[in-house]
Amino acid sequence: MRTAQCGQLSAADVGRNVELAGWVNRRRDLGKLTFVDLRDSTGLVQLLFGDDRPDLRDAHTVNREDVLVVRGTVARRSPANINPEMKTGEIEVHVEHMSIENRSKTPPFLVEGDGSDATEETRLRYRYVDLRRERLQRTLRVRHRVFKATRDFFSERDFLEVETPVLTKSTPEGARDFLVPSRLHRGSFYALPQSPQLFKQLLMVGGIDRYFQLVKCFRDEDLRADRQPEFTQLDLEVSFPSGPEEIYTLVEGAVAHIYREVLGIELPLPFPRLTHAEAMSRFGIDKPDMRFGMEIRDLSSIARDSGFRVFAEAIASGGKVAGILAKGCAHYSRATLDQLQSVAVAAGAKGLTWVKIEDPIASPIVKLTSPGELEALAAAFGAERGDLLLILAGQGIEKPLGELRLTVARKESLAAQEWRFLWVTEFPLFELDEEGQLASAHHAFTSPRPEYIDRIETDPLHILSNAYDLVVNGTELGSGSIRIHSRELQERIFRRLGITAEDADLRFGWFLQALEYGAPPHGGFALGLDRLVMMMTGEASLRDVIAFPKTANGMCPLTEAPMPAAAKQLDELGIRVEGTC
Ligand code: AMO
Repeated sequence: MRTAQCGQLSAADVGRNVELAGWVNRRRDLGKLTFVDLRDSTGLVQLLFGDDRPDLRDAHTVNREDVLVVRGTVARRSPANINPEMKTGEIEVHVEHMSIENRSKTPPFLVEGDGSDATEETRLRYRYVDLRRERLQRTLRVRHRVFKATRDFFSERDFLEVETPVLTKSTPEGARDFLVPSRLHRGSFYALPQSPQLFKQLLMVGGIDRYFQLVKCFRDEDLRADRQPEFTQLDLEVSFPSGPEEIYTLVEGAVAHIYREVLGIELPLPFPRLTHAEAMSRFGIDKPDMRFGMEIRDLSSIARDSGFRVFAEAIASGGKVAGILAKGCAHYSRATLDQLQSVAVAAGAKGLTWVKIEDPIASPIVKLTSPGELEALAAAFGAERGDLLLILAGQGIEKPLGELRLTVARKESLAAQEWRFLWVTEFPLFELDEEGQLASAHHAFTSPRPEYIDRIETDPLHILSNAYDLVVNGTELGSGSIRIHSRELQERIFRRLGITAEDADLRFGWFLQALEYGAPPHGGFALGLDRLVMMMTGEASLRDVIAFPKTANGMCPLTEAPMPAAAKQLDELGIRVEGTC
């Protein structure tokens, strides 16, 4: 019977007889003495095996990751042997009895350290060994506490956690579906939910009133460090919200509760709100990092009469001239400025004009501008000697300016260690997708703000919606909206998205019908819990906060999923596979 945990022993336990169980972190033989660091989920403790016990002779044969149960007495280490680096470094356990419960093959990498002695693929293949790493154990503990704090918060506020189906019909969120073939209905497929969106709306129609769920979502999309094909959302929905503000207050209350419970950090409430239009014009992005300023400044009124043709023509043709001030960056080399130009061009700018505030002012356009113009531009920013202006001209220059802002901030390490949450509100209802087709900016079930409803057919790209995002330090943590609850409006939106009545009926008829049976006004939100845990633990990838994640190409090296299916299984499903990649 275990009576203590390795990492929890301290000088206060000296003299105690304890039974411990765990894994061998490492072994050192010093003459007749054997030292073993034993590890369990709480940490390490040093075991000392003396030479006076024949039954402990096996101690010098134990190896990394062997599983031991030991009994012994906690003793103070001699002053020379105290290890201040180790939490239990003041003590050791003098072992009186040992049982080797299991031997381990030589592990593929060390459990101590940061894991850099193995590729990520190897670490994932032997994830059960990797999980013993202190950092992963800590992260999973944080994850558990985040989940618990979330459940507590919503349960205390009369929310009901309701499970929604996993084998279902497509619930589109802009990604591809994972399909599951049906054996009983050959040729038919379930889709795994991209989110519980439609089911949570049905729960509102069903009178559930306040719903939440910690729920797995599945999206077949190109993966990045902050995306996994299956991930977990905190999903919620309420009936009869007074408006988006009610959702903001609820969600920020939940986030503040989680931070308080898990990190002991008090977040200032309410989080600032910024309209989407303002975020774009001031920061060039819909998820601005507010840890630094460097806001975009419109310079059109100065550049309108510029001697520099590029500026004057940009404004004359309906564009603008705008820029950012990179404080103290006038020392940037030609190579760095070229690099910044590439960043701007890759984001859609035609070129980049830089102005170094030096004596005299240095810029490739010095000779092309009107007298005093560059000084006027500098003055517009309140620039001082040593500063650098980065200026773009043309249409759609906010996004490239936003990229420049982030690039300079990274280069200059401007982002302080702090939590800058904000709500970005009033997203447009529609946007153009990569093929230039009208698409929902959030999803098709988002309501337009009422004053724009009559523009659905005539001016869709200028409709503002009741959609909002929660952003922290430049990362989108969650999204939500007030929903459409009338069938007629929902059908108009589908039509505008190019979904024919027939198609809408086939794909969403079941949902449209529900809107005809007393659907209440409702709205909600979903927050990416993996992303939240990743931010709270300072990890760089979602893979570091998920026990069994997929690699960047959607594989699980541990199980080797996805795998070809057995011929018999395919036969039963009536599926024939033609070629593989
Ligand atoms: P959305 O699609 O914006 O909204 O998703 C909400 C949040 O889920 C997280 N997320 C992801 N996390 C990891 N890997 C992914 N592939 C991934 N995709 C999304 C993000 C994101 O902000 N049904 C709506 C919500 C609503 O309207 O209530 C929805 O799913 O943190």
